[in-house]
Amino acid sequence: MRLKNKTAIVTGSGRGMGKAFALALAKEGANVVVSDINLVEVKQVSEEIKKLGCETLAVKADVTSKKEVDDLVQKTLKKFGSIDILVSNAGVSSMEYVIDMPEEKWDFNMDINLKGTFIVTKAVAKEMIKKQTGKIICIASMAGKGGAATQAHYHASKHGVVAYVKSLAMELASSRITVNSVCPGAIKTSMQDREVKWSAEIRGAGATSKEIREELSNFTPLGRIGQPEDVAKVVVFLASDDAAFMTGQAINVTGGQVNTM
Ligand SMILES: NC(=O)c1ccc[n+]([C@@H]2O[C@H](COP(=O)([O-])OP(=O)(O)OC[C@H]3O[C@@H](n4cnc5c(N)ncnc54)[C@H](O)[C@@H]3O)[C@@H](O)[C@H]2O)c1
Repeated sequence: MRLKNKTAIVTGSGRGMGKAFALALAKEGANVVVSDINLVEVKQVSEEIKKLGCETLAVKADVTSKKEVDDLVQKTLKKFGSIDILVSNAGVSSMEYVIDMPEEKWDFNMDINLKGTFIVTKAVAKEMIKKQTGKIICIASMAGKGGAATQAHYHASKHGVVAYVKSLAMELASSRITVNSVCPGAIKTSMQDREVKWSAEIRGAGATSKEIREELSNFTPLGRIGQPEDVAKVVVFLASDDAAFMTGQAINVTGGQVNTM
């Protein structure tokens, strides 16, 4: 077990990749604080973690609220005494051509994906600095390295996360805190289900979700859509001392897809 006696917070861990990260960290021995806007789902994830014999806490926190994030940090410190690992994962997406995009959709993506990353990492970094150690992992995206029609706002937010992580890594290196981002490709979650449906609607002419999924697989050199567990293995590695000499990196987990457009 690589993470015994470590305490991890995972944001957006009620479902999808965040849930897979929470379970994978627990399987390596970590105490895991599962946090999301959806308290019902994080309580369910917490129950699954308890069944693994690990310590856990479920906390409702919206990453766009400094007050709720501060509360998440305080509850974690009260129960476990320290925060060793942060996985800043909470994120959203939507699809719209720029010329049709209301400002609300731009703000929705920016506020949760980019400003939420700032709010959560800032609150946790303050505590990690006191202990002069820690691992911060931010979930960006392959979208943080390229561009795509109908997702300018999402791609801009994820480019922001990649750049933010590179900069924060430089600021925290002297406190022996590593900061890396992970850039997943097409991963089967509820976010992807929504995006596949929207893509079919935008394309029109009878396009189906099944066809869009087949295209996603065909565009992926390894020939399949990724599973949350594919990404969780990389997150566990970055959270462990095996990655002690890595910081400021943006690691692709894309099945070989390289989005450089
Ligand atoms: N699925 C993919 O193909 C894919 C690819 C690349 C990157 N990502 C990124 O991975 C992360 C996880 O995505 P997913 O696919 O598991 O999505 P998902 O929609 O399945 O799960 C996201 C979780 O985040 C929570 N959340 C949303 N807004 C929140 C907020 N303001 N505060 C706290 N929690 C909030 C949701 O309730 C949900 O539980 C996101 O940052 C996403 O942008 C996803």
